[in-house]
Amino acid sequence: MSTPLLKVQNLKKYFDITGGILGRKQGEVKAVDDVSFSVQRGEVLGLVGESGCGKSTTGRSILRLIEPTSGNIYFEGEDITKLREEEMRQKRRDMQIVFQDPYASLNPRHTVEKIMMEH
Ligand SMILES: Nc1ncnc2c1ncn2[C@@H]1O[C@H](COP(=O)(O)OP(=O)(O)OP(=O)(O)O)[C@@H](O)[C@H]1O
Ligand SMILES: [Mg+2]
Repeated sequence: MSTPLLKVQNLKKYFDITGGILGRKQGEVKAVDDVSFSVQRGEVLGLVGESGCGKSTTGRSILRLIEPTSGNIYFEGEDITKLREEEMRQKRRDMQIVFQDPYASLNPRHTVEKIMMEH
C-alpha cells in the first residue's frame, strides 16, 4: 500500500486542570488518550462519538493548533510533530479544519461540489 496521506500514531492530549489562588495543577483531562489511525489519499475517515469524547481535540492536535502531549503525526510520510511554527504554517496550506458552523466555514452560494473542487 502507498504512503498514507495522514498517519496518527499513539496521539495523546492531556489538559492540565489548575485551581486555587496559586493556580497549581490539580489533575488532568485525558481528552485524547493513545489514538492511532491512518488515512489513504482519496479515503474519508469518520470519527464518531458522544460530545466531549475528543474528536475536535484530535483534529486540532493533528494540525498542531494545540500541542499534542505525545505521539507522532505523519503527513504524506513526513513527521510533522517536530516542525517549527513557520514550517507548520506552510503545511497548513494543505491541511484544514472546516469548523462546525458551516456558514462561517463554507460559502453558502457554492455547491458542495464547487467547494471541494477548489481544494
Ligand atoms: N482547552 C481545553 N482545556 C481543558 N479541557 C479541554 C480543552 N479543550 C477540550 N477540553 C476537554 O477535552 C475533552 C474533549 O473535548 P472535545 O472538544 O475534543 O470533544 P468533541 O468530541 O469534539 O465534542 P463535541 O462533539 O461536543 O464537539 C472534553 O472533556 C473537553 O472538556
Ligand atoms: Mg467537537
